[in-house]
Amino acid sequence: MKILEVKNLSVEARADKKTILKNISFEIEEKSIFVLIGPNGSGKSTLAYTLIGIPRFKITSGKIFFLGKEISKLPIYKRARMGLALGFQEPAYFKGISVENFLKACSKNSQQKEIEKALDLVGLEPKKFLKRKMDQQLSSGERKRIELASVIVMKPKLMILDEPDSGLDIIIYKELYDILDNIRQATNASILLITHREEIGFLADQAGFLNKGELVYKGKFDDVMIRYCQSVGRRKRCRKLKVKKT
Ligand SMILES: Nc1ncnc2c1ncn2[C@@H]1O[C@H](COP(=O)(O)OP(=O)(O)OP(=O)(O)O)[C@@H](O)[C@H]1O
Ligand SMILES: [Mg+2]
Repeated sequence: MKILEVKNLSVEARADKKTILKNISFEIEEKSIFVLIGPNGSGKSTLAYTLIGIPRFKITSGKIFFLGKEISKLPIYKRARMGLALGFQEPAYFKGISVENFLKACSKNSQQKEIEKALDLVGLEPKKFLKRKMDQQLSSGERKRIELASVIVMKPKLMILDEPDSGLDIIIYKELYDILDNIRQATNASILLITHREEIGFLADQAGFLNKGELVYKGKFDDVMIRYCQSVGRRKRCRKLKVKKT
């Protein structure tokens, strides 16, 4: 069963009617990881925002299906209720709230056990963190993990994780890899991961390369990487992947 089907999707910014995404089509299978890679400004975040239904962007053609049902016209809260969640933005401060209460507020009837498990999955010891306050005393990496735990307790069917620019990558590669692998095994969610980090792609079941608003290539991650590094001039990286020149 497909969790997400995007068909010929074109999107513009409402404010200035600028076309950002052009004729995008791809599918995500249930319980799989799809990695979306592309240079700055290629439209990755716009795609994430359009999928969850942020009204800043307007679908000018095409359709989005979630678990077989068309959601293109549904408001953001209905899509959320159906099981779509976006996370991993720059985590916000919620001054004074404890980590425990923050996660409870985010969760969909989560039991204490589940909240603790979510913290475990992101590599934070529940005993140490439940009573901590969401404030500047948490490191940025810890806040980012808590943000990710907040997506886990929402129990989404599809998690969209939009990593910020590479300069802001806070969780180191190996750990993020483990965290995503944990999530995949412990929850039944599919993951759409937007990343600049090529290494993460080795987790991917499928991948797509977005360039200038077009999904120029999709398929196995290695194949997508070939196109990606050829296109952005990462020849060294291509050699490292030991890929055949196409
Ligand atoms: N609300 C908006 N109005 C007009 N243009 C916008 C709007 N939001 C984004 N854009 C433009 O659309 C293009 C795609 O932006 P987007 O943020 O989706 O890229 P991205 O692939 O996520 O980039 P990055 O890797 O830097 O996060 C950019 O040229 C951006 O300036
Ligand atoms: Mg972005």
